[in-house]
Amino acid sequence: MAMAHPQVFLFACAIALLASSSMFSAEVTLLSILFMYIILLSFFSPYIYIYVQNHTISRLCGRQVISAVNGSLPGPTLHVREGDTLVVHVFNKLPYDLSIHWHGVFQLLSGWADGPEFATQCAIRPGNSYTYRFNLTGQEGTLWWHAHVSWLRATVHGALIIRPKRGRSYPFPKPYREVPILLGEWWNANVVDVENEGLTSGAAPNNSNAYTINGQPGDLYPCSSNKTYKLIVKQGKTYLLRIINAALNNQLFFKIANHNMKVVAVDAAYTNPYITDVVVVAPGQTTDVLLTANQAPASYYMAANPYVSVAGVPFDNTTTTGIIVYEGAKPSTPKMPILQAFNDTPTAHKFFTNLTGLVTGPFWVPPPRQVDEHMFITIGLGLIACGKTGNNATCGGPNGQRFGASMNNASFQLPTKMSMLEAFFNNVKGIYTTDFPNQPPLIFDYTNPNNSFNPSIIMTTKSTKVKKLKYNATVEIVMQNTALIGVENHPIHLHGFNFHVLAQGFGNYNPTIDKNKFNLFNPQERNTIAVPVGGWAVVRFRANNPGVWLMHCHLDVHLPWGLATAFVVENGRTPSTKLPPPPQDLPKC
Ligand code: C2O
Repeated sequence: MAMAHPQVFLFACAIALLASSSMFSAEVTLLSILFMYIILLSFFSPYIYIYVQNHTISRLCGRQVISAVNGSLPGPTLHVREGDTLVVHVFNKLPYDLSIHWHGVFQLLSGWADGPEFATQCAIRPGNSYTYRFNLTGQEGTLWWHAHVSWLRATVHGALIIRPKRGRSYPFPKPYREVPILLGEWWNANVVDVENEGLTSGAAPNNSNAYTINGQPGDLYPCSSNKTYKLIVKQGKTYLLRIINAALNNQLFFKIANHNMKVVAVDAAYTNPYITDVVVVAPGQTTDVLLTANQAPASYYMAANPYVSVAGVPFDNTTTTGIIVYEGAKPSTPKMPILQAFNDTPTAHKFFTNLTGLVTGPFWVPPPRQVDEHMFITIGLGLIACGKTGNNATCGGPNGQRFGASMNNASFQLPTKMSMLEAFFNNVKGIYTTDFPNQPPLIFDYTNPNNSFNPSIIMTTKSTKVKKLKYNATVEIVMQNTALIGVENHPIHLHGFNFHVLAQGFGNYNPTIDKNKFNLFNPQERNTIAVPVGGWAVVRFRANNPGVWLMHCHLDVHLPWGLATAFVVENGRTPSTKLPPPPQDLPKC
């Protein structure tokens, strides 16, 4: 389990007492001062130890070796308060390279702890360790952590819950209990192999075999009647469910039979209360809801099934369930919610566009009014030439080519020799180029399905193009999905910042009409936006944190295909606006 600070505190206390009670030499006194210092440190900052290692578990009638943290799936929930410093010692006992990302954490001046491999660090090699140290300031709610190398995050993930500082409260009535609900995806296979098979052949990798709630598939799957998450509730009480979509490749609908939910926060940013019977959550996103146990004492299923915006491709069409049991209820068959249809885009769009930011909440910042950098970025799939010379080689993707993906037709490739952040800090040339364009190289009818296999626009090529930003620049991005290969809803995640979502819509973005739809008063804040299928979204953020920040599709099938770019934010002029040097133990490539 995660080692919380009280244990460290007690341990250090005992040693310090021992040391100071026998004050016969200066060394011992010094030692005791040192221990006192450790006590103070450990009292004010949660110290966590996580061991990532092979772990064998039974799921769906079989046994499978997975990569897991401290022997549990999902991994431990980390609890902190706003303003805390978190120190996490990560030990890599896997046969794979590893890094851990703290999804949604601002990492103000601590970019070295952000985690994505080759972006802010080189991987922790098998047998090695790295200590992530960062503050959690200016944000409250539900975030999470996950591996940020290959597909390991399928099983290497957990919740990161930031509660208000002592003496401060939520901007809603205090819930009776708080419950993390991690939605995941399960393969009856080694996920690293699944990914590599896809990348080698150029085809799409295999779909998952199940979805999970807190690591359990639920009793609709074979051999899973005792693999069902259960939540016992007291009638009349209100519970805060902290829903996290930790699935690799699927957006999910989440429902509870007979119960409404009240959304109060998304991506660790408070929202105006929004009552709904269905929550839609894209990979990377979190949604905090209040659930009041106001029904007759009985059992009720909670269920998650995929929202699939792309047409005509196979997908994992199964349903994961958990059971809410009222205390004192007679045993009964749980009631099942009516599931959304897989392609229910109207419901997804209604949910995503009805959320608004809580202007009166703590940490609210208004969206930037004036914009320094206007970007229009096309987002979508494409093809990468199969062979090096011409089209004579045949790969497993469409047209005998490889699946690819790009932003503004630049298919992002991570460097391999050095992390981008080290290149930024040490001014090393040749690791990335700063020519990511503000516009797509070609203007076309982006969302017209007639263009899906248009040979003159479907090919893309690999590069490591980033967008350089001045410290504190304000940025507006119009994210425009394309119909290349097919239309799809892409959850785009920005590292290091929250952005405001000003507007979303279908079809091609039209500046003259769509500008009028901007919500500059109370837009929702997020770190991951599900850009509508065959549509667009407009976001704004302020680049107030120097470093290298990835922006990528949070579908793990699309990330290695190149659906990414990065922002390199320059240092400001004052010491407090400059990226400090890397920690001593930063892993070497
Ligand atoms: Cu949650 Cu770059 O990812």
